[in-house]
Amino acid sequence: SKTRAIRSEAAAVTANKIDTLDGVDWDNFGFGIRSTDSMYVMKCERGEEWQKGELRPYGNLELSPSAAVLNYGQGLFEGLKAYRTSDGRILLFRPEENALRMLDGADRLSMPAPPVDVFVNAVKQTVLANERWIPPAGKGSLYIRPLLLGSGAVLGLAPAPEYSFIIYVSPVGNYFKGGLAPIDLKVDDYYHRAAPGGTGGVKTIGNYAPVLKTQLSAKGKGYSDVLYLDAVENKYVEEVSSCNIFIVKDNKISTPELRGTILPGITRKSIIELARNFGYEVEERLVSVDDVMGADEVFCTGTAVVVNPVGSVTYDDKRVKYKNAGLGGVAQQLYTALTDIQMGKAEDKLGWVVQL
Ligand code: COI
Repeated sequence: SKTRAIRSEAAAVTANKIDTLDGVDWDNFGFGIRSTDSMYVMKCERGEEWQKGELRPYGNLELSPSAAVLNYGQGLFEGLKAYRTSDGRILLFRPEENALRMLDGADRLSMPAPPVDVFVNAVKQTVLANERWIPPAGKGSLYIRPLLLGSGAVLGLAPAPEYSFIIYVSPVGNYFKGGLAPIDLKVDDYYHRAAPGGTGGVKTIGNYAPVLKTQLSAKGKGYSDVLYLDAVENKYVEEVSSCNIFIVKDNKISTPELRGTILPGITRKSIIELARNFGYEVEERLVSVDDVMGADEVFCTGTAVVVNPVGSVTYDDKRVKYKNAGLGGVAQQLYTALTDIQMGKAEDKLGWVVQL
């Protein structure tokens, strides 16, 4: 019943865990951490090969207070999802892409990263070890969070002598409150997320804490999230705190081009390909805030967010509402195409899905 579902969700929130996925109110489940059974841990000494990884009970890590990740932010994270299909299969979406992006980020942060096959195999093992936490078909998904940390102790600024690759998982529902309801974005014209030559183009942990201040302030004013502008001209949109952005104008789709300041989203890349297959013209280019304000439709993409329509954008106290937001728009069409592949409802013609 509804009351039982709400009660069990409330208990899950208080206890920060759930004991069963039965009776969960998935529409309101949200995107939060719930403790699961197992996590994967693998270590590597600097300059040596990765040791054999292992599954351990999910729990706290032991780290030196002088671990490089704690002191100097030598850390990366990834995000991907496992879905249960209606015929009982378990599917991952493009996990090699996450492995490759971690290798790229590791190079930027002077860390060793696991080879692609080791990464993907570790993801598979972790998902299977936590199989009971994968939501039922068509409900939520199991969010998978790989981490790469400089876990060895340092004092002077230097790469860590030891690295830890960790994977944990959590069952999740929708990222934004209200499910796929259009979100309201605020353009920040003072704070920037990334600068040319910086680390905006890799998934380093350090890119995420600085957006909290602007995000909290925007949320306090009733917005869902913040849209960042480029740090040089304060004119071109880059991304939202946790996702990439697309605009639609006269049936043509545009998204900011990757210039090292924008996270190369795997959902972003997949949506570009799916949209082209639908016959849309898709451009990766500089997208100005004026382009956004003049668009017919705006939407965000990300692993956590999936594809989420934008209902309004506010910039300099000017607010634009998009009439095509939500049902019937391009975002809706692409959302369905993408999630049908991810959930095994549509044929995987592009070879994106990995079955466990
Ligand atoms: C994801 O979409 O998987 C991310 O890593 C974004 C994060 C801020 C939730």
